[in-house]
Amino acid sequence: MTALTPVLSSRWAEPRSWTLETYESGGGYVALAKALKSAPADVIRVVKDSGLRGRGGAGFATAAKWGYLPPDDGGPRYLVVNADESEPGTCKDVPLLMASPHLLLEGLVIAAYATGVRQAFIYLRGEVVHVHRRLLQALDEARAKGYLGRNILGSGLDLEVTLHAGAGAYICGEETALLSSLEGYRGQPRLRPPYPAVSGLYSRPTIINNVETIASLPGILGRGAAWFASMGTRDAKGHAFFSLSGHVNRPGQYEAPFGITLRELIQAAGGMRPGRRLKFWTPGGSSSELLTVKHLDVPLDHESVGAVGSQLGTRGIQVFDDTACVVRAVARWTDFYRHESCGKCTPCREGTFWLTQVLDRIEKGKGTRADLDRLLETCTSIRGRSLCALGDGATMTIVSSLEHFKAEYAAHIDGHGCPFDPRQTALFSSPGAKEADA
Ligand SMILES: Cc1cc2nc3c(=O)[nH]c(=O)nc-3n(C[C@H](O)[C@H](O)[C@H](O)COP(=O)(O)O)c2cc1C
Ligand code: SF4
Repeated sequence: MTALTPVLSSRWAEPRSWTLETYESGGGYVALAKALKSAPADVIRVVKDSGLRGRGGAGFATAAKWGYLPPDDGGPRYLVVNADESEPGTCKDVPLLMASPHLLLEGLVIAAYATGVRQAFIYLRGEVVHVHRRLLQALDEARAKGYLGRNILGSGLDLEVTLHAGAGAYICGEETALLSSLEGYRGQPRLRPPYPAVSGLYSRPTIINNVETIASLPGILGRGAAWFASMGTRDAKGHAFFSLSGHVNRPGQYEAPFGITLRELIQAAGGMRPGRRLKFWTPGGSSSELLTVKHLDVPLDHESVGAVGSQLGTRGIQVFDDTACVVRAVARWTDFYRHESCGKCTPCREGTFWLTQVLDRIEKGKGTRADLDRLLETCTSIRGRSLCALGDGATMTIVSSLEHFKAEYAAHIDGHGCPFDPRQTALFSSPGAKEADA
């Protein structure tokens, strides 16, 4: 059994874990002091040697992204922390920010120092007002103690941080839409290239990183690249949050090295609900292809999950047991994408609307067999033909559920309704439900 590795979450259970006092008592801001004594290029080298990959979904190498910044031309360059976290199943950044906001702030100062940034932004999901308050308090504490502002810890580094609350749009987590929103425009994606590292916020070089990516930096700088790289798999190093939600006994954040399996995570989470069996799950939020009980032992790293036809994404693992209707779950996710589509490009705007219409009638027992082909055709029209990854993401659970659970769609059509009536004891027997226990 792979051991859990609580690092970012190691002090969450302490009383008032979010205060600067608690953070400092556990060695907080020591890594920053250490980093400020090295040259920025040396800090980047440590991050490169650690193998840290972005925790926001795509898993892009963090040091490589920083390396795309053009040479300093004397003008401003920006660092933006992406704290928009809005995808169904993705729920790691909010608890991290609530429990340990200084971990983010310390990482943010380290990243700004390494990349030559003097103005940083935190773009926070607008609905989480409690996190907004907590971050404001942490920013005040850090400024008062000399960790932010002018001449940080006597190093000569000046850094200002602006906390910006979004207005509740999932698309504003997409990095170019986020930049438009931050500039005061409607939050819609921009064409790339140019990439933000070259021309981002206010057309200036900009680095955008996820909360967990930045919060991993104090550990890497404090304990060293070799310590971080000793965890995980060959290409996915270090610890990461695996967020388990759904039909397990103890849903929550499980911090573990990459390569842990769902079987091990379910064990850590106290197993499936009593008497129930795993049916399907998302490895990386609702924008990843559904996996089934066949995939319980797939190592959870980017490459291995990719090899079985899905994506590790944000490690937002939604677990469904044999009481769940896959058509209903997919219909709900698809409705989310329809609602959140920004409308800029036709395949996504129109396609997500049509998908919800077809799924709705199948779920209600009014669909036809031809609707199954219609679903796949519409997904083909969206995938690879949309401006940003939201469009592609909308199709993932549909196509994969038709691959794994076509019989269940057919049962809704042929039986003129959903076979999953919670009042019935005899459950519909889907291919997934027949498989072995988790
Ligand atoms: C629709 C959509 C929503 C996204 N939402 C988020 C988000 O809430 N947080 C995040 O860090 N990345 C999100 N991303 C990914 C970002 O575009 C970007 O890749 C990420 O912030 C880069 O950070 P990283 O390199 O540290 O992973 C989203 C992407 C898409 C297409
Ligand atoms: S794919 Fe969807 S969300 Fe992305 S730009 Fe096009 S319409 Fe907007």
